[in-house]
Amino acid sequence: MAVELRHQSETSSESGGSFSFKDLAKALVVRQSIPRLPELYQLIERTRISQAEVQPYLGLKAGNYSRHRVMRNEFVEMLVLCWKPGQRTPIHDHNGSHGAVFVHEGILWETTFEYDAETGLAYKAHRELRAGGLTGSEVPDIHQLGNPDVSGQDLITIHIYAPPLGVLKTYKLGSSTIDLYTPADPDFL
Ligand SMILES: [Fe+2]
Repeated sequence: MAVELRHQSETSSESGGSFSFKDLAKALVVRQSIPRLPELYQLIERTRISQAEVQPYLGLKAGNYSRHRVMRNEFVEMLVLCWKPGQRTPIHDHNGSHGAVFVHEGILWETTFEYDAETGLAYKAHRELRAGGLTGSEVPDIHQLGNPDVSGQDLITIHIYAPPLGVLKTYKLGSSTIDLYTPADPDFL
């Protein structure tokens, strides 16, 4: 089930404030098991992301949203995704992985769906997350993410998947057909 949390204020004076984007990546690199979603939330919530740290992973493409990998091991991967207004994912699930998404900059729209083998895919809910917003997908959540074409600004999101994403399953509204989809290779590894 998808949940929504609120990222702590950038001005927080808590001791966790010293945990940086690099520290987050390092904490994931040394993992020897698949982190559960609450663990990912805890890590992201204590992380303060500076623009300088995220800068090497930024870049926009004309056709599709772009993916920039920060780290990947057997158990978990972390990516920065950059979206122009109007760019979005297909309707998909994570085929056995769970994932956390943090909005660094811009506006993210997430639509969730319900699947029934008899009646096909149906709309479930829709929501908006702004900078500081944190959301997650448990197995087997089906969703679509995107930067709304009316946002007027680029979107930068940080994604952690455990285990790393392989081939995803994609869906079509009103259809019970499930297709396979391999996300584009990251532009920067
Ligand atoms: Fe997803």
